[in-house]
Amino acid sequence: MLNEMRWWWPVCLASELGTQPLGLRLLDQPLVLWRDAQGQPVAMVDRCPHRGAQLSLGRVVAGTLQCPYHGWRFEPQGRCVGIPAQPGFTPPASSGVCRHAAVEHEGLVWVALAADATVREALPDLSALPQRRLVYGPFDVATSAPRAVENFLDTSHFAFVHEGWLGAADHPEVPPYEVTHTADGRPVIERYKAWQPRASAAAAGGDWVTYRYEVLSPYSALLSKQGDAGGPQDSYTIWACPTAPDHCRLWFAQYTTDAVSSDDALRDFQVEIFSQDQPVLESQQPKRLPLSGGEAHSAADRLSAAYRRYLQACGITFGVC
Ligand code: FES
Ligand SMILES: [Fe+2]
Repeated sequence: MLNEMRWWWPVCLASELGTQPLGLRLLDQPLVLWRDAQGQPVAMVDRCPHRGAQLSLGRVVAGTLQCPYHGWRFEPQGRCVGIPAQPGFTPPASSGVCRHAAVEHEGLVWVALAADATVREALPDLSALPQRRLVYGPFDVATSAPRAVENFLDTSHFAFVHEGWLGAADHPEVPPYEVTHTADGRPVIERYKAWQPRASAAAAGGDWVTYRYEVLSPYSALLSKQGDAGGPQDSYTIWACPTAPDHCRLWFAQYTTDAVSSDDALRDFQVEIFSQDQPVLESQQPKRLPLSGGEAHSAADRLSAAYRRYLQACGITFGVC
């Protein structure tokens, strides 16, 4: 778990977090999320230090989180500020609840487990991507987060899983491509060319499409694509929350220059694509991504292999085997 503390994790849509507490799981730990009096997200361990009740069953009262069992109240830093059964008593620091860092970014709420900001990796800066932005999800998927991210990076399934959409049965070949790395060791493909019968919601027909792939963090990645015939420039991210070793919650964000397609048309396209992926993803065994052998590779899997080596270099232990 130690290495996993370095990253920010997407845990919910910012719009999902309203005025009352929300119970979630991250890295197999129960979390409670709520908003302080300024509307800023607060993340805490979802367990009351008094008798272990779930704080997410409580409510937000005057900028504090109140436990549902005996009504102890906690301020956003985690300090206990009220014990209704003992009015006038000042609770000691040991009555506080453990709190994590939480921020809003790219339409999601992100949580970091490391208390020390200096050990945290930065959140990805996507400000240069097209400004029309949509977030799709959550998708709850019965596989590990690394399996889901590897699928996002995998191009040789297009002709089979997305036949007639992102791939064509008569073009299953994966042309040679080169994997490079960012200065901090994240795998990148600068240029990958694929024939796609229907590359986007706006596509009128088939086109050669140039892709760029970049792993952003252990459980997130970015792809950008542009058709040779012009058309919209699209970028997508996958944000994967590792809820349990063999379960994840996903969101896909789209950044597009498509000014014509409706939000619904863009969403329907992405939901359709992922509905093609999901049954195959959930069928993969083991559900944790094998980092130490046990699966066969071909040269077409170079990016997947680089992603696995990157996870190893990061010291990731959750959702892998
Ligand atoms: S268990 Fe939370 S106040 Fe008692
Ligand atoms: Fe896919």
